[in-house]
Amino acid sequence: IYHFRCFVSAGFVQSECRDRYLWIHVASGQMPRFEAVDGNGIHSIGEQLASRCGYTISTFKMDGYTTFRASYYSCFTQNQNDEVFTFNFNVLVSDGGGRWTSQSVSAVCPGLTWTHREVICEEDYMEVRTNSTIENLGTETASLTWQLMFRQRDGQVSSMSVTEAQRWGYSLTTTAQRVVLRSPYKQPHAEITMVDGVSVKVVQASLFFKQKLVMVMIDMSMDTGSFDGNRLLWDIPRVLPPLVREGARFESRSVSLGVESMLLDEPTMTSRGFNIVQQGGMIQISVPFGAKGGYRKSLVVNNMYKETYTIFLLYEHIFSLLYEDGSSIETRHRMLRVLDTPLVCRPPFSLNRKTVSGGKEFSVYLGNIPSDVILEDIWINGKRLPMSDTSQQGFSISPVVHTNGSRSYELQLPFEDENVHWVVSRSRFTSFGHFSRAHDLNFTLTILPQRNSYYYHTFITARVFNRCKYIFLLSTCSDEGISFSVAKPPHSHIIWEVGIDNEPLTPQLVAQRGYRLYNNSHRSTLEVPVFSVGYTYEEINLSNFYATFKLLLRDSKTLEIQTSTSKRCLFRTEDMIVCSPDGTMTVVTTPSSTWPTVQPEKTTLLDPTCKPKETDGARALFEFKLDSCGTRAMVKLSSHKDWSTDQLIYRKRILVTVRCFYPLSAVNRLSVERIFKSVIPGFGSVKVFESHTGQSS
Ligand SMILES: *[C@@H]1O[C@H](CO)[C@@H](O)[C@H](O)[C@H]1NC(C)=O
Ligand SMILES: *[C@@H]1O[C@H](CO)[C@@H](O)[C@H](O)[C@H]1NC(C)=O
Ligand SMILES: *[C@@H]1O[C@H](CO)[C@@H](O)[C@H](O)[C@H]1NC(C)=O
Ligand SMILES: *[C@@H]1O[C@H](CO)[C@@H](O)[C@H](O)[C@H]1NC(C)=O
Ligand SMILES: *[C@@H]1O[C@H](CO)[C@@H](O)[C@H](O)[C@H]1NC(C)=O
Repeated sequence: IYHFRCFVSAGFVQSECRDRYLWIHVASGQMPRFEAVDGNGIHSIGEQLASRCGYTISTFKMDGYTTFRASYYSCFTQNQNDEVFTFNFNVLVSDGGGRWTSQSVSAVCPGLTWTHREVICEEDYMEVRTNSTIENLGTETASLTWQLMFRQRDGQVSSMSVTEAQRWGYSLTTTAQRVVLRSPYKQPHAEITMVDGVSVKVVQASLFFKQKLVMVMIDMSMDTGSFDGNRLLWDIPRVLPPLVREGARFESRSVSLGVESMLLDEPTMTSRGFNIVQQGGMIQISVPFGAKGGYRKSLVVNNMYKETYTIFLLYEHIFSLLYEDGSSIETRHRMLRVLDTPLVCRPPFSLNRKTVSGGKEFSVYLGNIPSDVILEDIWINGKRLPMSDTSQQGFSISPVVHTNGSRSYELQLPFEDENVHWVVSRSRFTSFGHFSRAHDLNFTLTILPQRNSYYYHTFITARVFNRCKYIFLLSTCSDEGISFSVAKPPHSHIIWEVGIDNEPLTPQLVAQRGYRLYNNSHRSTLEVPVFSVGYTYEEINLSNFYATFKLLLRDSKTLEIQTSTSKRCLFRTEDMIVCSPDGTMTVVTTPSSTWPTVQPEKTTLLDPTCKPKETDGARALFEFKLDSCGTRAMVKLSSHKDWSTDQLIYRKRILVTVRCFYPLSAVNRLSVERIFKSVIPGFGSVKVFESHTGQSS
């Protein structure tokens, strides 16, 4: 294969000597015209002359250029002994306003190594060139005495003189060493046969005088290939019987592929994913959708991106026919074929990747975006998100490029966006409600450069698994107590009711228990001072203790408790009395603050063996069960129906009464059984009396 760069003209006309043809490439919006120039003058190349004379004005114009190909054996080409070929053309280009400018293209192309027999199926003609030493076919006598015989469809033979054949559009020329027969397509002398299920059109002509020369041209343009969804497929019978005469052994030498009339070498073919496989009697060629060398064309139909892929392939098969007498004939068979796919839909899809960043963001994956498409806009809940300024809004959009050129986008959208929708749905199978946030997304996707847009709409929801964490987004400890901060989802009807120990958090309860509740448009904050009703206490010692406060959430319709949130904080110990639900009373007191001062370690309970659990220079910590250490239990018949128990701390002169009050309704076991258990903690009181010296038991 020889590629010679012979001549490159300035501007918009390029030309090049290529493998068995001269190539001219013209950049012009208007269809250019071509003229061949030889010693006899100028010959305008129209459609008919082109197919008779070996010229092709390609109809394959995907790149906007016009490609012209002239066979080395074209009519007005000067041939020096089949070795040097001289071309002269005028290329006429219109300015669109009726003015034509002419540019001349000249090329001298050195010859190639010709194969004994070459068959080429061009876009507009078939040409066969065969070694022969027939001379003077061009003379008038010869064209009358030589006979061309065509085998026809029905097996009959029609015979005609060369002159008559020329009237049919055939062209027969002889050169120093070869004879060339050219035929336009759609000739009546073509015969259609099936080879391995592929229909083949054959023009079989015999040239007679003293010797017989059989020339066969075959065309398979009726077979347009197929598409399997990913690859374009083209099946060609390995052996085409019309090209193989009886008594000869067939031997394949090479099969190659090319694009736009240029053969590709093996590594290039492989890198583009082209495939040639021999399967039985067929050569199966396949080309992946979008492979380099072809063209994609995309458009929007009914809000759907569709594309086709077209490639202009060249197939070459070199094979030998070996005869018993040891002679052989080599044939180079070439075919050009445009393969294209139907319109293929590329629907985008989205995946809801649920939530990320600890449940503070949506993550959405938008896939199957072709390489010529950009994500131009996103409308979120009816509001346009400016793509130029996404990061500032807390959104992030990252494109992901796949090896095949298509793209995906990963979007991260914050939950806290003011346009977020809140959706509450109730499952039929569980008593739990789904508390979700939703985004209505409408993506504007635009094909470049033609700027056709299509839209992809999706509605994503993210179920909030840890509802509490979000609803009571913040709970914080302070020296004074615990505060809970509740983010109010906008555009939502809150179905949750907050409760403490089964009592709804009403303004009355807040006032009664000394809580503090603040509201603003986004948040509610509940402050619960330490020691107020509702706390439970653990691990009390003289320096620190833990206090826990629990909020319950319930469905305001069913009053079912859905979930709870609690917060545990460490506080500094001061004088206090804690009445635990298990009936343990813990008292921290500062006897040294009384007058006269008392040493804390000398204090006892009514039962003098009940000593403080812990003391320091100033304070004592007692911890005891309500049924021990001389504690008196009594039921007070008050309007509150409280049940209370007292414990007296005796000092020499000073009596301190500490009491725990538990609601009777919350106490499970009566004191008779000596097992105390309350559903909720009690609350305590401490009273100091003046000395009662007589009371010593
Ligand atoms: C065919 O012609 C070429 C020159 O065009 C010559 O080199 C070759 O030997 C010939 N082959 C046969 C088989 O005649
Ligand atoms: C490109 O590759 C991606 C990821 O492998 C795939 O999802 C997509 O369908 C491919 N597109 C085409 C046109 O082959
Ligand atoms: C998406 O946006 C486009 C352009 O604004 C609009 O024509 C289309 O109706 C929207 N689709 C949906 C489902 O809202
Ligand atoms: C806070 O707002 C809720 C609902 O908006 C209302 O029911 C409640 O009374 C408000 N509380 C205070 C303390 O303003
Ligand atoms: C008191 O309790 C706290 C919390 O459990 C602990 O960190 C601390 O060491 C304890 N102090 C004493 C003196 O036991």
